[in-house]
Amino acid sequence: MDTAHARQDPHPARFRRLVQHPLWAPLNQPGHWNALASALNPVWSFTESRARVVRVVDEAAGVKSLWLQPNGRFNGFLPGQHVLLELEIDGARHGRCFSLSQAPRADGLLRLTIKRKDGGPVSGAAHALEAGQVVRLGQAQGDFAPRSVGGKLLMLSAGSGITPMMSHLHALAAADPARDVVLVHSSRNDADMLFADEMRALASRWPRLHLHQHSTQALGRLDAPALAARVPDWADRETLLCGPDGFMQTVTAMYSAAGRSAQLHSESFGRRAAAIDPDAAEHAVSFATTGKAFSAKAGQTLLEAAEGAGLQPRFGCRRGICRTCQCRKRSGTVMNLLTRQVSGPGEELIQLCISTPHSALELAL
Ligand SMILES: Cc1cc2nc3c(=O)[nH]c(=O)nc-3n(C[C@H](O)[C@H](O)[C@H](O)COP(=O)(O)OP(=O)(O)OC[C@H]3O[C@@H](n4cnc5c(N)ncnc54)[C@H](O)[C@@H]3O)c2cc1C
Ligand code: FES
Repeated sequence: MDTAHARQDPHPARFRRLVQHPLWAPLNQPGHWNALASALNPVWSFTESRARVVRVVDEAAGVKSLWLQPNGRFNGFLPGQHVLLELEIDGARHGRCFSLSQAPRADGLLRLTIKRKDGGPVSGAAHALEAGQVVRLGQAQGDFAPRSVGGKLLMLSAGSGITPMMSHLHALAAADPARDVVLVHSSRNDADMLFADEMRALASRWPRLHLHQHSTQALGRLDAPALAARVPDWADRETLLCGPDGFMQTVTAMYSAAGRSAQLHSESFGRRAAAIDPDAAEHAVSFATTGKAFSAKAGQTLLEAAEGAGLQPRFGCRRGICRTCQCRKRSGTVMNLLTRQVSGPGEELIQLCISTPHSALELAL
């Protein structure tokens, strides 16, 4: 025996036995420490990123901003990124993605600007939040940002698609106020125009920021000729695009027709329903735990097929980012719609929103 080493042992046997006593077992589990921390202060957590609502601001009819003070588990964000906001609704946790609508700030405050959706559980619950309440936040995700440094920029947004643009505008105003930026924002009318005062304040100290508001009630939809008339040099500008599907399709087609797709970066808030071939093979899918069964066509996401059959699996981003829809596949093969990779036939975790069946499936749901 190495007695010298034994003499130096900082944790003698008696001490180790005391620490490992079953009485203290709960203290070795993060969940218990979290429960203790939350009991002292609901925003405290050793593992979860949470935030306290410090202010709620009415921005327009059906649109509110939540100002949030995150705890130390939140790792910060870049302009243009979004977070998963998780709320407890009727005893179940629901999460949806929302873009940060401010640039990163010295005081760490975050702003989410949320449009209430008819029948939407999370936007509805978010609108009912009050200062002092605590929410869960995922870490910031996404890479919706200009790739060039200093080049001419065009930002095209409609409706709540303005939120990531505001984050970029605030960040650029501070870091690159010489940059030539045009923002064209489409809304139904002046009353629906979000952040009008905030944008005017930015433009007043940033002469190379040009703002165009397009009211669809007065001028009709913002189509390619209208856009080209407002921004004659649009084809020379790197472009950020965010808004409802129809608006995004119009702009995407315009850039594609002009051979300018490479300079267009898009962020979609909507549900991108996969185009399904009506003749595609149909596969049986069963949820082993609940005993539910439905069928899904090759090419269709398992999430959409399940919803089409009246089931309500949990989801967040619907684009393979947040993993809220993740579940265990017990048997069968799936294709990942993002990578086009086909899985093996055995047990593994899959994401319902980006998986399509390649054979009959059994899922542990
Ligand atoms: C990256 C990203 C960033 C976003 N940023 C913002 C933002 O800054 N501000 C903002 O307001 N929104 C933003 N969104 C959109 C927001 O996440 C959605 O509007 C979200 O669905 C709202 O959640 P909800 O629970 O209120 O409504 P949901 O439950 O998601 O759905 C609302 C309505 O759609 C219907 N619905 C449900 N399933 C389907 C389906 N498969 N097909 C069609 N309709 C269906 C429901 O019946 C309901 O009426 C963002 C989305 C993404 C992906
Ligand atoms: S819903 Fe976010 S990964 Fe599927």
